[in-house]
Amino acid sequence: MTSLTIRRPDDWHLHLRDGDMLRGVLPETARDFARAIIMPNLVPPVVTAKDAAAYRDRIMAALPKGSDFQPLMTLYLTETTDPADVAAAYADGLINAVKLYPAGATTNSASGVKDITAVMPVLEKMAQIGLPMCVHGEVTDADVDIFDREAVFIDTKLNPLRQRLPELRIVMEHVTTKDGIDYITAADQNLAGTITTHHLIINRNHLLVGGIKPHYYCLPVAKREEHRLALRKAATSGDSRFFLGTDSAPHTDPNKLCDCGCAGVFSATNTMACLAHVFEQDGALENLESFASLNGPAYYGLPVNDATLTLTKHDTAVNFPAKIETGEGPVTLFDPGFALFWSTS
Ligand code: DOR
Ligand code: ZN
Repeated sequence: MTSLTIRRPDDWHLHLRDGDMLRGVLPETARDFARAIIMPNLVPPVVTAKDAAAYRDRIMAALPKGSDFQPLMTLYLTETTDPADVAAAYADGLINAVKLYPAGATTNSASGVKDITAVMPVLEKMAQIGLPMCVHGEVTDADVDIFDREAVFIDTKLNPLRQRLPELRIVMEHVTTKDGIDYITAADQNLAGTITTHHLIINRNHLLVGGIKPHYYCLPVAKREEHRLALRKAATSGDSRFFLGTDSAPHTDPNKLCDCGCAGVFSATNTMACLAHVFEQDGALENLESFASLNGPAYYGLPVNDATLTLTKHDTAVNFPAKIETGEGPVTLFDPGFALFWSTS
């Protein structure tokens, strides 16, 4: 039996939803993680400081007794967002980032940004005060192939924005391509990337070969194997610009298994077991702590957690539930496609 104790990890990209779903999934994250950046794509979205304060209260009320999990709130950037409201929310310690969704890019992104020039006053204010912007980096043009949307976003949106406003601190969320990894690696400042657990494990064949697997459908969609290998290399390298953002995104089974299934992989429950497996397989267990617990706080300018998490490797496979039951219905847990031998405590 092997064990590894690391600083308690944080999840730098998480969907918790609201109401019964929030109550169902929050304990799954709070078990292993000290903090998480909470995505604001509710319906309606979390747009103002007032929305964020109310949502934070609902999250705190849904926490299991005794949990000291801390939600790190974000605002959903719209073309009518008020820079002064954003700045005040940051000054009050209420938010840690603002999220840019290109309108139509993904789940509940209809109120997102169509024209980046419309939000420049907000972005300029953020650059000035050091408030990071998290970005869903995919273009939405109907004539751009879904597998190319991240690479095209980097060339046509992200790079021009960074040239125009180099002081803005950006997190490129859920990087799925070698293009994204190379772009972040080449940047000299103010750019980092989160990587999900599932994109380290599945490529597009897992999604589509031998029958369609709706539970592997997410956005950005998984790419070809060479991209997955580039993500693995970046995540396991210890490079401080890459850190964990699970993008754990619960949808009930009826909403996944239908004619127009929702995008999202729910991985909160077994993420640390999956990551220990991946890092061990790549001979990089010593870098798991950097990826999951150190690099994120450093980029966000926050202290690392005092508490620790111990990962224990067992001789026999550890059983995780296939589904989490929530008040809204069952949510299927990410299946890495191999047995897991690590548990957390
Ligand atoms: O797969 C995804 N699910 N990607 C996103 O960007 C949004 C998320 C969700 O909210 O379900
Ligand atoms: Zn997300």
